[in-house]
Amino acid sequence: MILSIESSCDDSSIAITHIEDNQLIFHKKISQEKEHACYGGVVPELASRLHAIDLPNILEACKPYLPQLKAVAVTNQPGLGVTLLEGIAMAKTIAMVQNIPLLAVHHLKGHIYSLFIGKEQILPLLVLLISGGHTQVIRVESLEKMTILATSIDDSVGESFDKTAKMMNLGYPGGPIIEKLALQGDENRFDFPVPLRNSPLLAFSLSGLKNAVRLAIESLGGASELSHQDQCDISASFQKAVKLHLIQKSKKIFATEPIKEFAIVGGASANMYIRNAYQQLCKEYGKTLHTAPLEFCSDNAAMIGRYAVEAYKKGLFTDPYQIDIVQTKKQQIGALL
Ligand code: KG4
Ligand code: ZN
Repeated sequence: MILSIESSCDDSSIAITHIEDNQLIFHKKISQEKEHACYGGVVPELASRLHAIDLPNILEACKPYLPQLKAVAVTNQPGLGVTLLEGIAMAKTIAMVQNIPLLAVHHLKGHIYSLFIGKEQILPLLVLLISGGHTQVIRVESLEKMTILATSIDDSVGESFDKTAKMMNLGYPGGPIIEKLALQGDENRFDFPVPLRNSPLLAFSLSGLKNAVRLAIESLGGASELSHQDQCDISASFQKAVKLHLIQKSKKIFATEPIKEFAIVGGASANMYIRNAYQQLCKEYGKTLHTAPLEFCSDNAAMIGRYAVEAYKKGLFTDPYQIDIVQTKKQQIGALL
């Protein structure tokens, strides 16, 4: 069995995965959403202190499995430096005390492997990763060969949902709130621009759309003046523009990529409106859509453990004395994959 730890942002999570059959034996996650909600986003120092309390508590429940561990895995990039360090300190300690190998896991690769929890991997695969930190289309050929085909030049999809919710004082995280309000909204009331609609650029951009939402809120007198229906209509119109943007750029990629298996992963892949649009698109292009169970779309240690099983089989170990966080600029993350 492999014990895996995730602490790259505001979720403390530990999982135990069976190496032979990829089955998830144990999984627990403590989210800090409530603690960060009043700030409208994640406060790194607060997140770090909460990990220092929650991770040891979760580990207590793993005690019966410790003698059976063959390796320990931990997210070491990308993420918030001070929160990654909490998971790394725990993983290093377990590796040394138990005298077992350590696996450093790239968080985004973990998101991709959320598709294969309890299952065999399906490769090659085209993946749209939409999370709070990233928006990318990735061609996944093997554990080591992953190529970024398109990436966001500014905000990520999840971030744009969070900021839209924040501008209307709706709380954090914004994704599920906006999706729910949009169900009662008129998606045609606001004609928000579809980002990069007339650009040949194979990239994503969400910051201009965010600005258009801000102007619409201001034109209605500001957040405090919005009626419930205004909030629903803004949410629906915003979500529609995001969908059209993702679909337009994905069509360009689908036109040239012959890989039949397509997946959406990351926190924002829980959005049913976006999932349904991709279901339709995949049908049009003869591709099969794969998604992770809703509970594994947002950050969790089960996906880190599933990736770690494959890394373990290939012997991709890290020296516990050498492991550290890898700090990267957003634009460079693609290069690291
Ligand atoms: O993958 P994740 O848990 O963390 C990162 O790796 O960044 O993604 C979190 C993001 C947040 O921005 C959140 O608002 C967004 O995923 N999200 C959603 C939905 N559920 C979560 N965005 C749109 N619709 C949703 N239903
Ligand atoms: Zn994530």
